Amino acid sequence: MRNRLQLNIIIDLAMFLAMVVTSISGIMIKIIAPLRRHATENWVRELAEGLMLGVGRRWWAEIHLWGGIVLIALLVVHVVLHWKVVDGYFKKHIASKGLRTTLYVVLLVLLLIMTIPWIFIM
Ligand code: HEM
Repeated sequence: MRNRLQLNIIIDLAMFLAMVVTSISGIMIKIIAPLRRHATENWVRELAEGLMLGVGRRWWAEIHLWGGIVLIALLVVHVVLHWKVVDGYFKKHIASKGLRTTLYVVLLVLLLIMTIPWIFIM
């Protein structure tokens, strides 16, 4: 039980870290990189350059993609580790076994649609 709790905490911390990396790199792509290129004020351009830590937009996009992939993978592990809780919740709120199975199949199909394209893009 203690080991399981430790594993959950490690997965959740890793997930948070992946969220931080993905979110910050997204900000770099969306806000800081355009500022670095197009800002009219010199100091804004220099600040944006500094914030990008000498790494170009292409690299931030790469960091963002890998952060996102790790985030999705950890999210799947997180749900698997809490499957009893998830299943218990749906058992309590959806009495019909057929409806529950349909819901799980729909969620699985969405998960596959969300993950499979990345295998071919990488
Ligand atoms: C914390 C969650 C996320 C946030 C806040 C976020 C935010 C952003 C932002 C702001 C952009 C820039 C959009 C633009 O240029 O207009 C972006 C681009 C992108 N995001 Fe995310 N994103 C997240 C998660 C993900 C995930 C999970 C993936 C896939 C694994 C992903 C893949 C991409 C890709 C491929 C781009 C295009 C990068 C490029 O321009 O080359 N993102 N994201």
